[in-house]
Amino acid sequence: MRRTIVAGNWKMNKTVDEAVSLAKGVVAATAGAEAETVVCPAYPCLVPVRDAIAGSHVLLGAQDVYWEARGAYTGKVSCEMLASAGVVYVIIGHSEQRQYFHETNETVNRKVKAALGAGLKPIVCVGETLDEREAGRTEAVVEDHVTGAYAGISAEEALRTVIAYEPVWAIGTGKTATPEMAQEAHAVIRGLLGRAYDAPTADAIRIQYGGSMKPGNARELLAQPDIDGGLIGGASLKPDDFKGIVLA
Ligand code: PGA
Repeated sequence: MRRTIVAGNWKMNKTVDEAVSLAKGVVAATAGAEAETVVCPAYPCLVPVRDAIAGSHVLLGAQDVYWEARGAYTGKVSCEMLASAGVVYVIIGHSEQRQYFHETNETVNRKVKAALGAGLKPIVCVGETLDEREAGRTEAVVEDHVTGAYAGISAEEALRTVIAYEPVWAIGTGKTATPEMAQEAHAVIRGLLGRAYDAPTADAIRIQYGGSMKPGNARELLAQPDIDGGLIGGASLKPDDFKGIVLA
């Protein structure tokens, strides 16, 4: 049985005080939820948010990480630093990182390995752009992303990861993949995991959908057999919207 996981990706939003207040709002709004609930604030807000959610059901996630352990890498943050700040999950390979910050399958793979090595749980993002979908390349792109991210990762390690299928054209645009489109992509991903590892491993890895998920469409998406949760951007910035998804 895969436990549903809903993670809020706050992106580059919220100052420290705002993040603490949002975190408290999320704790209160989602109390008693069955789904595993995660919030992913920006780096400066991690420790204050950790303190704000301490002792609650909400877990802490980060939005990115660097693969080197330490050293002269100005501006970067290591896995050990994140772990020491109470981070449990880390988003890796988000399409905004791929689009704007030169993230590639190779850098995703390095980050996933480093995160696993430090005891963090990667949320590995994959998904096609609109051009790629229209060119009929969705499956090929998803396969390329998954294969690249999981190169050299054992089944035991893969079980500690979550995949987020996020069609780029649905992120922040208000356009959601239909439940059928999302399910089709999720089934492709589970099939790939089955071939790369084995059926029990593929059955156990959770695959989230991301891209304009809202309280109004969450239930239908989450009802699909291979959709095990959501990675939520815009709707994670308001406790009531986030609650609507977590409770769905
Ligand atoms: P969105 O973002 O919910 O605002 O579309 C999702 C994401 O980028 O993770």
